[in-house]
Amino acid sequence: MSAKEVVVAVAGATGAVGREMLKTLEQRNFPASKVIALASSRSAGKTVPYRGGELVVQELTEKSFEGVDIAIFSAGGGTSQKFSPHAVKSGCVVVDNSSAWRMDDRCPLVVPEVNAHALEKHNGIIANPNCSTIQMVVALQPIHEAAKIRRVVVSSYQAVSGTGQKGIEELEKQVRQLFNMQDPDVSVYPYQIAFNCLPHIDVFLDNDYTKEEMKMVNETVKIMEDPGIKVTATTVRVPVFYGHSEAGNIETEKKITAKEARVILSRAPGVKVLDNPRENIYPMAIDAAGEDEVFVGRIREDETIANGLNMWVVADNIRKGAALNAVQIAEVLVAEGLLGVKDPDMFL
Ligand code: A2P
Repeated sequence: MSAKEVVVAVAGATGAVGREMLKTLEQRNFPASKVIALASSRSAGKTVPYRGGELVVQELTEKSFEGVDIAIFSAGGGTSQKFSPHAVKSGCVVVDNSSAWRMDDRCPLVVPEVNAHALEKHNGIIANPNCSTIQMVVALQPIHEAAKIRRVVVSSYQAVSGTGQKGIEELEKQVRQLFNMQDPDVSVYPYQIAFNCLPHIDVFLDNDYTKEEMKMVNETVKIMEDPGIKVTATTVRVPVFYGHSEAGNIETEKKITAKEARVILSRAPGVKVLDNPRENIYPMAIDAAGEDEVFVGRIREDETIANGLNMWVVADNIRKGAALNAVQIAEVLVAEGLLGVKDPDMFL
């Protein structure tokens, strides 16, 4: 890490991801001379914890970014669309966790373990991918390098924290209500999430897939820079607080054995292999929660096709799936001297 210290703003600092971003900056000793917490006017004056003390939350406005080097946004797509262009206008580089800029050709979509090089040509806004996509591509990239992936069939089991603080509160409340013989209040999801599984994340699109499913399809190709990788996904919300799990079936051009895959993945950056069926060892959401790695297990050859693997991939959706990945991007920007913007008016 360079000795240079930078001014960092966290937009959405009161949210589930924003709070984790502050914690991650602190834990990784990010070289920040100052950290500014931003949220809506509703939160102005409230405090959020940082480095054993507290930061007073300021209202996010167009003027929030004067003198700020890096702004990490996790305040929803609309907020990012509205305020990121003003941050860039102020010379501030944005790392945005929403879906607002992910498929915009002007914005690199980055998972540092996979395509950190894409940061070199940034234009001021860098997109952080969808949580389910991030953990999947960290596990896919080493397999792709070894055997060229042709097709991925993935089903996800996604935690309620992916919906933000309100998702966490909805599951907590419904569990309490059901244990007290009350009807559960249903407000965040279309149906009860406690003791249930909903094959519905984000909105349904014209092709009957959900937006979450199509994010996994399209973002994977952009990050791995290979339109030859075909992905098809079913995304499911499950009554888990933290940690997304994914069952992936991967078809490759070259044959790769389960044993080879285990070795390749155990050497891959950001991956931890937990795979010993005889001892009941496999990744679980409860163990991944609070951890940085993408955990991979249940690695098996698909016996129904020539070159296929099955695996189970688990990560903390708030951490590697959001806050950590964004902070890792910011770390590369600082270390590689990639701060500053070329065209401050590009997104206005
Ligand atoms: P606030 O707490 O003031 O509403 P989560 O994803 O956990 O729901 O968090 C969303 C985050 O985005 C919160 O910090 C929230 O702030 C922030 N946010 C939502 N809308 C706006 C807005 N219009 N301007 C600034 N921050 C916003």
